[in-house]
Amino acid sequence: MRKTESKVSVRQARLDDRPLNYRFHLERDLPWEQAGENGLFFGSHFLSRLGLLPAAFDAQPDLQWALAVITARAFIALEEDILAFTKGSTGSRSVVLLVEEERKHIELFQRVLTHLYALHPERRADVDAVWWRPVSWDDLRSQSAIDDPQHVKGLFWLTTLFFEEYTVWIQDALERNDEHFQPLWFAAHGLPARPRPHQTSAGRGAIHFW
Ligand SMILES: [Fe+2]
Repeated sequence: MRKTESKVSVRQARLDDRPLNYRFHLERDLPWEQAGENGLFFGSHFLSRLGLLPAAFDAQPDLQWALAVITARAFIALEEDILAFTKGSTGSRSVVLLVEEERKHIELFQRVLTHLYALHPERRADVDAVWWRPVSWDDLRSQSAIDDPQHVKGLFWLTTLFFEEYTVWIQDALERNDEHFQPLWFAAHGLPARPRPHQTSAGRGAIHFW
């Protein structure tokens, strides 16, 4: 075995043996009973950092809700892409663990989305009409101008790492405001902020796995 190959195997073995305390329980770790309570979805810090005007959101509270719907749908789509991406993998324990967590994230945001739609059923069609799915893994794979499929996989995985870090940033941005957030929404965004090596480490590992 060459030196670099043995280094990769050691790293992969370490990933496979990682502690699992970052995992969450879909029922126990979320305040589902507070799904109908009031509260903001986004604070002024978050909105300003995205270049949005908090005053506009204050003037039209439905905008908060619409942005939450769009965010939840984007999360679901991007997490589904991770499942599509890992489908053809050789099935290391690391990938199995990653897929388990991503399935829970998808279910989590699907349930949150159901609660969101229930708040304003009359506005659902308006928001759905303007929502645009992010470019999917299948789109990327079939339309890429990059010849080497390994490079396409590497690029996809890099964007996934950025996305996962972005989800941690969202919680950080929410916590910078003293405003009263919708409890279920706040808790759902808190989960990614748990110490979770599975995306970042598995991500680094994945670049070697495929
Ligand atoms: Fe995730």
